[in-house]
Amino acid sequence: MKAALRRAAAADLAALEALEREGFGAHVPKEGMADELTRSWARVYVVDDAARGVVAYVTVWRVADEVEVIQVATRPDARREGHARALLARAFEEAQRDGAVRALLEVRPLNVSAVTLYRAMGFVELSRRARYYDDGEDALVMELRLA
Ligand SMILES: CC(C)(COP(=O)(O)OP(=O)(O)OC[C@H]1O[C@@H](n2cnc3c(N)ncnc32)[C@H](O)[C@@H]1OP(=O)(O)O)[C@@H](O)C(=O)NCCC(=O)NCCS
Repeated sequence: MKAALRRAAAADLAALEALEREGFGAHVPKEGMADELTRSWARVYVVDDAARGVVAYVTVWRVADEVEVIQVATRPDARREGHARALLARAFEEAQRDGAVRALLEVRPLNVSAVTLYRAMGFVELSRRARYYDDGEDALVMELRLA
């Protein structure tokens, strides 16, 4: 099935918010998706499937020579099709082209899908942040060297 990987546009906002709710439920961050589309340091990429519309997205922030993964989510019925991996790869490739030397992220240790995905892409655990999330769960800090 034909799917395009592209930068998100304002017209994607409703689809992005729906994906965010599906992916994160009660843990939707306070930073609004609309803000991410306008922040000069943020990049939002989507997989836009010809038949199903926007099925996955990633938001990253470019900070100095780092690229930080803010959110990545794939619609439940489109998971394990390689979308998250492709989105992250694109975001890192473009950040590296602009001078980024490493990618960083925080993830819940119990989020097996996400931790497995990041390890499969070469991320390694740097540290652990105690009670990082609003519900008291710790975060793993993971790093991928790009250079
Ligand atoms: C984590 C998430 C983004 C993965 O998206 P996805 O598009 O299904 O991921 P991909 O298809 O690119 O998976 C790539 C690899 O990640 C790993 N992976 C992904 N989901 C997995 C799962 N449920 N169990 C084990 N490994 C998994 C595998 O290594 C997989 O490769 P494989 O399918 O060849 O085995 C998706 O499960 C999701 O949206 N979860 C809810 C939101 C979330 O928790 N986001 C991450 C925190 S910001």
